[in-house]
Formats: sequence, structure tokens, C-alpha cells
Amino acid sequence: MFKLLMAVIESRAIGDHDNIYIVDDGIIGKRCRNEDRAHNEYNIGKYLLDNEIQVPKMYQLITPDSFHQFDNNAPEDWFILMQRIKGETINGLAGTEKKEAIHQRNLELEKVSALDIHHPDSAHDDNSIFDTKRRKLYLIDFEHWRRL
Ligand SMILES: Nc1ncnc2c1ncn2[C@@H]1O[C@H](COP(=O)(O)OP(=O)(O)O)[C@@H](O)[C@H]1O
Ligand SMILES: [Mg+2]
Repeated sequence: MFKLLMAVIESRAIGDHDNIYIVDDGIIGKRCRNEDRAHNEYNIGKYLLDNEIQVPKMYQLITPDSFHQFDNNAPEDWFILMQRIKGETINGLAGTEKKEAIHQRNLELEKVSALDIHHPDSAHDDNSIFDTKRRKLYLIDFEHWRRL
């Protein structure tokens, strides 16, 4: 939690995303808009991972209370600590890599639909990350997804 606090204070954000912080080499912290969305994203992420969908590991849900108790100046926000995926969103890819990433995304989304999960914004090209080294695609951003 200390490392998350430092990341927020130092504005160690990913690119121009002011809600995604680099906590350390393998972990990011996502600032959530409210409690419901934080729980939803965390729970859906865990459920997807349990069902062998390619998603980042969800490590911890950080409540504003716990964060605030830790440091009086901490922000009053909910955060999720999750696995950091090193790669590019589909937007940042081209050529065969982009093709492969989209192919994997479609396969993963078919599996997600089969789990009876509604995934409205999953086709946005910045809502999946392709690990270019391991050639593996990860779905992200489940804030608006829900189990039917
Ligand atoms: N687990 C992660 N590992 C690495 N980068 C990430 C991760 N999650 C999000 N990002 C980066 O942050 C961006 C925004 O994340 P996202 O979850 O889509 O937030 P938003 O709800 O603001 O759309 C992504 O497009 C990606 O570039
Ligand atoms: Mg997004």
C-alpha cells in the first residue's frame, strides 16, 4: 500500500492515463470511480481468471478507509492492485501483431460470452493489452461488465 501511495503522490501514471499507476515492475494500481465499480471490476476479473480467461491477476482491493488510515493525505478513492501487463494495447499495434491480438481477443470474448457475462466495451482497442514478448493477449477494464 505504501508503494501505491508513493506512485499516486509521484503521479507515476501509465502514459496519459491519470487513473492507472505503476506501483512496481509487476503491479499497477487502478483508481476506480466509486465503490460499486471497484467491486465489480475486481470480482469480474477474479471470476474470469478462475475460468481461465486471459486477464491480469487481481491482487487486492484497497478501500479509501484503509488507504486514509495509512496516511492522512492519501486520496479518498478505491483502488485495485493488479498484475501489470507489459505490452501494447491493440491501438498501438500494427500488421501481423495486431491481427494476432485481435484474433486472440475474439477467442477470449467468445469464452466470456459463454460464461454469461455481458461485456459492452470489450471491443475498444484500448481495452486489451498484447504482451508482445509472450504473444499473449489480456482483456482489461471490466468496470461495466456484469454477470447475467
Ligand atoms: N494491468 C495493466 N497492465 C498494464 N497496463 C494497463 C493495465 N490496465 C490498464 N492499463 C493501461 O491503462 C489504460 C486504461 O486502463 P482501463 O482499465 O481501460 O481504464 P479506463 O476505465 O480508464 O478505460 C489501458 O488502455 C492500458 O494502457
Ligand atoms: Mg478502458
